[in-house]
Amino acid sequence: MQNAEKDASSIVWISGATEGIGLGLARNIPYVGARAINLSRRPHPGLESVFLDLADPGCWNDVGAHFAETLAGFRGDRAIFIQNAHMKGMTGFVGEVAADAYLHDITANVAAPLRLGEMFLRAVKDSGFTGEAGLVMMSSSSARSPTIGQTVYCAGKAALEMWVRVARRELAMREARNIWVTAVRPGFVDTPLTRHVAAMADSDYPIASQMRRQMAQGVGVMDIDTAAKQIWAALPTDQSLLLFGEQVRSED
Ligand SMILES: NC(=O)c1ccc[n+]([C@@H]2O[C@H](COP(=O)([O-])OP(=O)(O)OC[C@H]3O[C@@H](n4cnc5c(N)ncnc54)[C@H](OP(=O)(O)O)[C@@H]3O)[C@@H](O)[C@H]2O)c1
Repeated sequence: MQNAEKDASSIVWISGATEGIGLGLARNIPYVGARAINLSRRPHPGLESVFLDLADPGCWNDVGAHFAETLAGFRGDRAIFIQNAHMKGMTGFVGEVAADAYLHDITANVAAPLRLGEMFLRAVKDSGFTGEAGLVMMSSSSARSPTIGQTVYCAGKAALEMWVRVARRELAMREARNIWVTAVRPGFVDTPLTRHVAAMADSDYPIASQMRRQMAQGVGVMDIDTAAKQIWAALPTDQSLLLFGEQVRSED
């Protein structure tokens, strides 16, 4: 272990820090000297990285073991996990998109975030860590908007926000005052994910052309650093949900 790792007073895990919002979050961590760890399929070129494939439950336990081992030896002040990674899924109509891709979308974008959140909280509790422990679950305004073409995405984000609300109540009942949990709706951010879905046909994803227009005009859409800085500025929080905007503007 490097001295910088051993002596860091903060550890921040970010899943999906290789691009998009996760990349922005990783390069704007506000804690000086923090040990930052990326969890994704590709290693981050400048950060410690641990392999994670959201679509492969067989590798999730390795991430859980990594949380547990790291926290067991951690004597710092703060440990945060931002569950941000999202697999570009099979946007399209239910019953029309390929069945195997649909299953992978559910595994990666509904089941994996909940399991990762659970493994982090378990590791915090089992380690006896008494510093500040924070869990951020990256949600979306799709948790409340039934967006055509996104059955899995909308259901996954709604489930994730309910998971956060229940977990918060359980932590409060156990008087785990050092642990906070929140969901974040980041607003509309220009990322590979939003470019991917904006490139789709309106017949499969009716808000695609509106997203393309907003991105071309720079209207109501943020860059990853702006999005990341406003998220960090709001943390830690006692809110169950941090809401930074909608995915697209309504066209009245
Ligand atoms: N962008 C927006 O406007 C917006 C709005 C609302 C909510 N959000 C939410 O914000 C989060 C980040 O979105 P984004 O737009 O930044 O996405 P993005 O640009 O597509 O980045 C996704 C990240 O997730 C990782 N990832 C993808 N598939 C993975 C897999 N199978 N296993 C492990 N990691 C995987 C990628 O890393 P690798 O490819 O290296 O694995 C990448 O670093 C998501 O949860 C998304 O739902 C975004």
